[in-house]
Amino acid sequence: MEKEAIDPDLQKMLIFVTGFALGAAMLLFPFIMATWDSPRHDAYSLALTAADGFVQPAGAGAPSLSTELNFTLYAANDRLTAGSCFSHGRVAASYGGVAVGEGRVPGWCAGPRSTAEVGAAARGVDVRLPDGLRRRLEAELRWGAAEFDVEARLFRDRDEETHSPVLLWCKAAGPQPPPQPLRCRAFTDFEV
Ligand SMILES: *[C@@H]1O[C@H](CO)[C@@H](O)[C@H](O)[C@H]1NC(C)=O
Repeated sequence: MEKEAIDPDLQKMLIFVTGFALGAAMLLFPFIMATWDSPRHDAYSLALTAADGFVQPAGAGAPSLSTELNFTLYAANDRLTAGSCFSHGRVAASYGGVAVGEGRVPGWCAGPRSTAEVGAAARGVDVRLPDGLRRRLEAELRWGAAEFDVEARLFRDRDEETHSPVLLWCKAAGPQPPPQPLRCRAFTDFEV
């Protein structure tokens, strides 16, 4: 028996294994694409465009503020075919752990391989910040260097391909022209 000769049975086996591997790869391809095309990879950022009502009028008694914060939310959708649409959302802002505003986010859409932005306003009534915190915030606002924590929840239409809402944790700094968008941490599949 020659050493170099390949056993015909082994040859058949090799062809079978190769064919099987190719077949499996073709079958798995759509799943790999779907995973890669998942909304998990969408990127979000947020910019603070205005912060009003935080400066207490001189001579007033107990500080109770009526605040308004304006934001622009940005979404980047890298998916090849699927758009990313939201029907509505909520946004809530806090400063130093104190809630300072709440509002709604209008519906918006980022098409495949594109970006989108939407404006949202958060309002606070009867906001009470401890004196030290309020003075620090007033100073930071003068410098355009205040930092708010913002949580946004974005919900999708029922007929959307993926129903999962998105939860965003963002920092909003400023306000300064031009507004500086900061990257948000995004979570999908959270419990509503
Ligand atoms: C904030 O947004 C609201 C509503 O969109 C708008 O009426 C208001 O003028 C904005 N405030 C500033 C300071 O841009």
